[in-house]
Amino acid sequence: MNAFPAHIDLKDRPALIIGGGAEALAKARLMLGAGARLTLIARKFAPETKAELQSRAHFIERQPVAADIEAAVLVFIADTPADEARRWAEIARMAGVLLNVVDQPALCDFTTPSIVDRGRVTVSISTAGAAPVLGKRLRADIEALLPPRLGVLADFADRYRDTVKATIAPRARRPFWEAFFEGPIAAQVLAGDEAGAHEAMLALINRPQTEEKSNTGAVHIVGAGPGDPDLLTIKALRLLQRADVILYDRLVSDEILNLARRDADRLYVGKAKSNHAVPQDEIEARLIELAREGKMVVRLKGGDPFVFGRGGEELEALRNANIPVFVCPGVTAATGCAAAANMALTHRARAQAVTFVTGHAKDEADPALDWSALAALKNTLVVYMGVTKAETIASKLIEHGRGRETPVAVVENGTRENQKIVKGSLAELPRLIEAGGIKGPALLVIGEVAALADGETLLEIIGKERAAA
Ligand SMILES: C[S@@+](CC[C@H](N)C(=O)[O-])C[C@H]1O[C@@H](n2cnc3c(N)ncnc32)[C@H](O)[C@@H]1O
Repeated sequence: MNAFPAHIDLKDRPALIIGGGAEALAKARLMLGAGARLTLIARKFAPETKAELQSRAHFIERQPVAADIEAAVLVFIADTPADEARRWAEIARMAGVLLNVVDQPALCDFTTPSIVDRGRVTVSISTAGAAPVLGKRLRADIEALLPPRLGVLADFADRYRDTVKATIAPRARRPFWEAFFEGPIAAQVLAGDEAGAHEAMLALINRPQTEEKSNTGAVHIVGAGPGDPDLLTIKALRLLQRADVILYDRLVSDEILNLARRDADRLYVGKAKSNHAVPQDEIEARLIELAREGKMVVRLKGGDPFVFGRGGEELEALRNANIPVFVCPGVTAATGCAAAANMALTHRARAQAVTFVTGHAKDEADPALDWSALAALKNTLVVYMGVTKAETIASKLIEHGRGRETPVAVVENGTRENQKIVKGSLAELPRLIEAGGIKGPALLVIGEVAALADGETLLEIIGKERAAA
């Protein structure tokens, strides 16, 4: 360790910044964030510094004197020429006041770390001035891992510390808190449901001593996005890194699973078309069973769990079984594929609305869609699971009045490395799929916006085949 890390309580204590420019402003924000009583001294202040800090800090426009420095607990010198800074540093040292001179490590008693600020929970990262950029990168990594409401969780736990002390035997306290931070009540606080969390906490604490005061687990229904791991939400990544068990579908990519905690159990419950690997009710029963074992379960689904993902059914089953359940959305295939194809789904000149439908129906039947309504819309129509029924979909839409020349784009494995995009007209959709060798997972995008998609036309595909032959 190069320097001893300590967090100084500055609440209502006098802190001084010598300097009036941008560096001084940056340090002032930190001091005010820590609740210090802040004075800034400079011969001249930048207007932005004054404007931002006006009512929150005390400004003195003159040269500092020794008494100013001696009155402070902590002093920063910023935006000040080196020889002048050395003079003030000398006075601070003689007065025993902790000092930081911005960008002059040799004159500093302490350095300012990169900070991850979650209220009461603060993480500080120091490279002892050796590599501040590395410190900032580490900070960004940690920022992504820590939930925004972590400070609220710390405050919540603090409110129950005495009660837990009074009701739970010393030996059981640590396991209690460990289970609490891993369990559903903490998840409720992090999700913003503090009222519900208080209710659950009181119920837990008030259970008779003879009953176990540990939590059941919880299930998080999480959207994994369309495939590219970069499209995972920060929250989804955090949950994956905390899960004990992950139940995942066919469309969840390996790159995403590789981001999970190394020792998490992974259960494949995927369904290939017409080949339901694990029936839906068994998946739901398994989720309930695992949560009752006290596990933190992630139910990981391709795209968004609430868009053709049966997330709603799982949510209902878990709620009926009184299992704490939370939903984390994901990027749905439609928006992922649209971005991957550089094709806006709505467009001022081409489409004022977008409709998502499924081309899949039970037992291989034709999809039971309201064709005349869909054909009449003249907006963007996105068909999920529509590859095998593309011929029916195209002919039904044309039959009900959608133009044969309406542009279409088919995006297969959108956002993944093996992404393929073909485009053409509604009338040629079946041939386009056949010539392009599209097997799925793929989306059909029908409407004027499809003309904007990056992708190969039928002519280009055929031309390539001929050239290769
Ligand atoms: C059961 S649905 C799940 C949809 C998912 N919940 C979502 O929000 O994207 C599966 C269908 O989504 C579409 N899909 C999912 N991922 C895709 C991708 N990366 N590229 C193209 N289509 C995709 C395909 O139509 C696939 O058959």
